[in-house]
Amino acid sequence: AGEGDPAILNLPPWSTSLGLPVAANPYGLPSKYERGLVRRESPGLTRVGGSSVAFTPLQGLFGIITPSGLHFERHHQGWHDIDPSKHRLMINGLVKSSSVFTMDDIMRLPSVSRVHFIECGANTGMEWGNVAVPTVQYSHGMLSCSEFTGVPLKAILDMCGADYKKGRFILAEGADGSSMTRTIPMELVESGEVLVAYGMNGEMLRPENGYPLRLVVPGVQGVSWVKWLRRIEVGDMPWATKDEAVHYMDLMPDGQHRQYTSVQECKSVITTPSGGQLLLDKGFYNISGMAWSGRGKVTRVDVSTDGGINWRQARLETPVLSKAVTRFNIDWVWDGKPAILQSRAVDETGFVQPGYGQLRAARGTKSIYHNNAIQSWKVVESGEVSNVQVL
Ligand code: MTE
Repeated sequence: AGEGDPAILNLPPWSTSLGLPVAANPYGLPSKYERGLVRRESPGLTRVGGSSVAFTPLQGLFGIITPSGLHFERHHQGWHDIDPSKHRLMINGLVKSSSVFTMDDIMRLPSVSRVHFIECGANTGMEWGNVAVPTVQYSHGMLSCSEFTGVPLKAILDMCGADYKKGRFILAEGADGSSMTRTIPMELVESGEVLVAYGMNGEMLRPENGYPLRLVVPGVQGVSWVKWLRRIEVGDMPWATKDEAVHYMDLMPDGQHRQYTSVQECKSVITTPSGGQLLLDKGFYNISGMAWSGRGKVTRVDVSTDGGINWRQARLETPVLSKAVTRFNIDWVWDGKPAILQSRAVDETGFVQPGYGQLRAARGTKSIYHNNAIQSWKVVESGEVSNVQVL
């Protein structure tokens, strides 16, 4: 006692020497002390890295925006850094004049910027039958939220004289080798929400996320957000391409497949404390997490610390935006005894996030996609936090 804290008593080098010059990193990087916070691949999930997923480290993020360098990546056939001067967007099908746009053509049009989440339909997919992964990065990290800048697709289709009467669907196609193509209902385009985007978080899209052009389809599963967007066709019926006839659909309990599920239903997850973390001691903790809904705004999040017996309403932090991540927080004093932490979100349609029991009753256990069940984190007396499922 009385020794004093050497971190205060001894002047550190950063207080006694000249720091680095400006522009030592012309494009800024995180502190070297943060180098553990990176996108991670689940070992053994796929055989080829070009057809895989790298998860966003949700446990280390604050607020609602995902830093661009940590935005999750999901590629069917790898990514390329495409030369924007050679990239083209073609519009064809049920339009008066089929057209080809360069990036310069697109970037001179009136633009909008909007904050939205993107969630892969396969997010939390490994957890359908049982607990499978240890941390929130792997259980929920196919989720990111960014500000996207671009041109409403409606404006581009108007320029081409789209036939909105017959042309009730569009097909979006990517320039990568996977022939990623998705059917999107024209109502979504007509609402003005679907964007042909080139910007993300104030800068051009990162190559991994579709540079120089991607489709932004707010509220809809990530696969429809076609990256390296090169063609939009207007048509009169869904195309049933390989990614809609084989993947991203739901195997129902009666053995039938449900096709074209596309809206990401209301969902939430506590990111701190979460699986793999350690509580240091009993006492005060801020429970923090993310909630989102593909149908609009999140209106309420309740949190339980006793496995769903009692619930308390969490604070929704501003901004609360439609089809974007909403940050929630709630105070918790841990008494040092075992606890089970859960969050349950409600959206503006009144939809309440289901528990695993409810979800499995409706959807079975053999699905991969569209798992929006309530997540449970168990805290034991040692302070260790782990992934569990509560029915
Ligand atoms: N677009 C193309 N052209 N190729 C792809 O492999 N993957 C899709 C979608 N768009 C994909 C694509 C899938 S399955 C998802 S979840 C999102 O992009 C992922 O976007 P991100 O890599 O920017 O997170």
